Amino acid sequence: MNPFVYRDNLLHAEKVSCAELAEAYGTPCYVYSKAAIQDRYHAFADALQGWPTKICYSVKANSSLAVLNLLAQLGAGFDIVSAGELERVVRAGGDAGKIVFSGVAKRADEIRRALLAGIYCFNIESRAELERMESIAREMDIPANVSLRVNPDVDPNTHPYISTGLKENKFGVSIEQARELYRQVADSRYLHATGVDCHIGSQLLDLAPFQFCFEKIFELVDWLDEQGVRLQHVDVGGGLGIPYAHADQVPDPVQYARVIAPFMQGRQLELVVEPGRAIVGNAGLLLCRVEYLKNSAGRNFALVDAAMNDFLRPSLYSAWHQISAVHREDGDEVLYDVAGPVCESADLLGCQRSLCIREGSLLAIHDAGAYGFVMASNYNSRMRPAEVLVDGEQAWLVRKRESIEQLFADEVIPD
Ligand code: LLP
Repeated sequence: MNPFVYRDNLLHAEKVSCAELAEAYGTPCYVYSKAAIQDRYHAFADALQGWPTKICYSVKANSSLAVLNLLAQLGAGFDIVSAGELERVVRAGGDAGKIVFSGVAKRADEIRRALLAGIYCFNIESRAELERMESIAREMDIPANVSLRVNPDVDPNTHPYISTGLKENKFGVSIEQARELYRQVADSRYLHATGVDCHIGSQLLDLAPFQFCFEKIFELVDWLDEQGVRLQHVDVGGGLGIPYAHADQVPDPVQYARVIAPFMQGRQLELVVEPGRAIVGNAGLLLCRVEYLKNSAGRNFALVDAAMNDFLRPSLYSAWHQISAVHREDGDEVLYDVAGPVCESADLLGCQRSLCIREGSLLAIHDAGAYGFVMASNYNSRMRPAEVLVDGEQAWLVRKRESIEQLFADEVIPD
């Protein structure tokens, strides 16, 4: 479902006009659709209903308490990578017993906090981390469930910054090392080998890399089984891509499930998935306003009040996001580079976009629900944007725009 549609030439989020949202909450402002998030979650849950499954939503994609609360109500588990994400999940009413903790450099205090919270499983990414995990579990006298994150050395064919499953990446351990480490786990009274884990990258548009990865992972599961190590679950990570452009051909959760099915056939295993982008990416947009139009050396610029600090994906990954005028007007369209106020030429939200706009026009930057607000910063001492969740005709301000006071509330000038 697409919750962002034009009615009377005015872009709406579900049943609320985006112009009204901009009026009420100011710009820049992230807008999320509750129905779209629910729809995407159910798409995963329905596609994977053939097996016992934990859908551990990857909190890093969008960690708004409102979004986490919505997903917790739908029954989601959570994939976290920090103590901060753990506290967010707990505050949002999520079930700690459905949390998996990923990440290559978990601090001791983070491990302790997660053990106390009673999370479901730690995804371990190195021998050193396994040893630290064991000594903390022993010291606290709390046994821990662990999974080894295997790096299957598979090319996910995505942007190099978000590829994680190649052997030169910092993530996971090789299959050979995993075999050794599972022996170490078997010898420990404080560690339970609950599962095996992998995650090869993000925004995968092709299912073949998943297939290659699953072949390697399930071969390891069989080998462990022969060694007498009976796992409870297989965690296949996240990474399913979403359409950003109309022409993008993207596998849906049903096609994804078809790749998993033969591997799960006849096994007494629970499936864990860690989708992030595929649940929230298309469910959000960023509203901004045109401050000035400018022509420089034959190029037209639409200078808007959102910038790379609010939405980093175009600058960091050269990501393409559709940009449209909130009011569709009759008139000649002009090609614009849409740029923000930050003092870097990389502060471009979109290049050569055909738009019919003027000063004061509102623009929507689409498909910004994942890796949008979470990657926002205060660069150039800009306040981070407001976030709004729309539910039918209702809109909730789920995070206020930051204030000037908040910008330096924790700073001190030495006497
Ligand atoms: N599990 C693990 C261990 C991960 O590292 C990630 C994402 C996910 C799950 C969720 O992946 P997803 O289903 O969202 O693809 N900032 C980048 C994306 C970074 C992804 C990092 N890891 C972007 O804006 O494209």
